[in-house]
Amino acid sequence: MADSPNCDLKSLSPLQLFERVTEQGEKVRALKAGKAPKDEIDTAVRMLLSLKQSYKTTTGQDYQAGLPPKDLVSINNGTTKEEDEDFVDPWTVQTSNAKGVDYDKLIVRFGSSKIDTDLINRIERATGQKPHRFLRRGIFFSHRDMDQILDAYENKKSFYLYTGRGPSSQALHVGHLIPFIFTKWLQEVFDVPLVIQLTDDEKYLWKDLTTEKAYEYARENAKDIIACGFDVNKTFMFSDLDYLGTSTGFYKNIVKVQKHVTFNQVKGIFGFTDSDCIGKISFPAIQAAPSFSSSFPQIFNGKENIQCLIPCAIDQARKSYYLDPYFRMTRDVAPRIGQPKPALLHSVFFPALQGAQTKMSASDPNSSIFLTDTPKQIKTKINKHAFSGGRDTIEEHRKYGGNCDVDVSFMYLTFFLEDDDRLEQLKQAYTSGELLTGELKKVLIETLQPLIAAHQERRKQVTDEMVTQFMTPRKLAFEF
Ligand code: TYM
Repeated sequence: MADSPNCDLKSLSPLQLFERVTEQGEKVRALKAGKAPKDEIDTAVRMLLSLKQSYKTTTGQDYQAGLPPKDLVSINNGTTKEEDEDFVDPWTVQTSNAKGVDYDKLIVRFGSSKIDTDLINRIERATGQKPHRFLRRGIFFSHRDMDQILDAYENKKSFYLYTGRGPSSQALHVGHLIPFIFTKWLQEVFDVPLVIQLTDDEKYLWKDLTTEKAYEYARENAKDIIACGFDVNKTFMFSDLDYLGTSTGFYKNIVKVQKHVTFNQVKGIFGFTDSDCIGKISFPAIQAAPSFSSSFPQIFNGKENIQCLIPCAIDQARKSYYLDPYFRMTRDVAPRIGQPKPALLHSVFFPALQGAQTKMSASDPNSSIFLTDTPKQIKTKINKHAFSGGRDTIEEHRKYGGNCDVDVSFMYLTFFLEDDDRLEQLKQAYTSGELLTGELKKVLIETLQPLIAAHQERRKQVTDEMVTQFMTPRKLAFEF
């Protein structure tokens, strides 16, 4: 029965159950606030009580709003109890640890593979290029099937890159740049086609936006993406609202995915509830479809079997309990529709200024550095808000040294300072107490200000015509 919690609940972890109860509580509140019919409210309340009961049975504790069962979540198939468990979904990258999420544990939990030195060396050998700092520093830390991509590449078989952006607002923060900076590098060193999906349809479905506004944001965000330096001859960027209706290849793949995934499965993967609109429920098929080359017959000459590689951050989940639910689902479906599984590269999450335990938010300008920030705003934000791993007094700092593991300025530098030796020197000087927090912040300010200014300068050069050029379905500079 749709209204009662089904037996799947038994297989949920305490944290997953906690999320379900929270979600259902929100639903009940929304129904009451919206003066929904009594029947509907009663059914939702019954469901809530039932979920709370399951929570109690599983955890032995009463559900308490805002207090996740952090000491009950287990990894390693439930055999180990962990006190400092991390929880990752797109809205919550949550951890009780100031150093941030324990990514090694996530790899175990989600069954992906670590990007280790062997793999990095192999990428270096295959491309003949020094590995990007995101690889050298473990920022892209996990993968699925990257070895297969390299096997194919070494045998002179091409692949293509796919990444995307959900255009929910005009302003991107620096965290959004991470996958694009890396994708640009991958495109350069492997010399392969790239498709970039702008999910304006997703943002229309999830946010309070008109289709027109979502499309407008897509074109605006496209300018920031183009400003990362992508080659128009090798890149096709598309708005879902625009491209989907024109491509039978794409639509056929959407329908194929839709036919092979049940409502129960998407509920399990994404946490959808019965009151979610059907647009949301079918959306995962739309984010899945670009993983198949037949969605782009103009680029791949109708070929169906070109392998796809997807760089993204670990937040690419949607109220989900998996590392990469969209692509986990896609990989599950692929063989059943006769397509190769896409490979993945996962990056860590770029932290909020306030520290690795909080999340950046577009509605809180002080939570991050935005691509539209002026040099003065960058300086003020870092000086005022960047969480410090330094000591309370200069004397203590000199004596005991700072902690780079929790210091946001240092974390940001690991993302953006290119020079490995300088980074190491800063680490040593800060850890020994020789370098003070203010001085470390100054290095970060001086690193980010020119970087953001250069981005803004490049963005200014991007015209509407260039956006249209990137977004026109066409053959790219590759023969297939
Ligand atoms: P969106 O717009 O939320 O995010 C765009 C890209 O930025 C990454 N990202 C981050 N990376 C590091 N640190 C952060 N703090 C951070 N915040 C966001 C995201 O992982 C993403 O790669 N539905 C998607 C759009 C999409 C997509 C894709 C993304 C469609 N197809 C294929 C990746 C791959 C979305 O809303 O992304």
